[in-house]
Amino acid sequence: MKAAVLGGAMAMGAAPSAMADGMDYETVTDLLHLVMSSDRTVYTRMIVNRLAVQEKVITASEHFEDDKALVLPAQMFRFGAEMVAEETDEFTYSLLSLWPINKQNAPTTDMEKEGLEYIAANPGENFYGEEELGGTTYFTAVYPDIAVAEACYACHNDHKDSPKTDFQAGDVMGGVVIRIPMDG
Ligand code: HEC
Repeated sequence: MKAAVLGGAMAMGAAPSAMADGMDYETVTDLLHLVMSSDRTVYTRMIVNRLAVQEKVITASEHFEDDKALVLPAQMFRFGAEMVAEETDEFTYSLLSLWPINKQNAPTTDMEKEGLEYIAANPGENFYGEEELGGTTYFTAVYPDIAVAEACYACHNDHKDSPKTDFQAGDVMGGVVIRIPMDG
């Protein structure tokens, strides 16, 4: 009993990073990705697809300020990633693709490219690996980004800068890359 109380007190005093020690990298990135993809799907289905595609009461535009339009799902995602990057260097994340509208969203490391190719060739599977960048070893996970609503593929197929114009419902359109620096 005494030990249990002591254990509880220690757990409460432990830093969040110490609690994560009990989880492997894959579980951590899986959970982070679950939150990201759920928010992303909700935004796309309940805001963009409903209001821009079905009800047609507002558009979604990359020039959302000038056009007084909805922020694109990819911009929504990046704004979140940028805010996280201001708060922590324990992990980073981004949305990339082998067929990017914005060339800045193309893979830049060998592992990003390998991961994106893997998830495109193996629907339903994720990709996990380790890569060394600038002297630091990272755990890098790549998750498929799926065309979950008509808004996704309709907009990409019609976009003048899209290198691919035949995306369909359920297709892998790109990937979410989550990277965690590994200790030691
Ligand atoms: C109204 C247009 C529009 C909608 C809707 C839209 N996208 Fe995009 N998407 C874009 C544009 C434009 C970019 C490039 C944004 C940037 O980074 O500047 C982009 C970026 C991306 C990227 C990063 C690679 C790239 O093409 O630059 C992925 C992956 C992606 N979108 C997938 C999706 C998915 C999946 C959905 C639905 C959940 C979706 N998009 C909905 C227009 C759209």
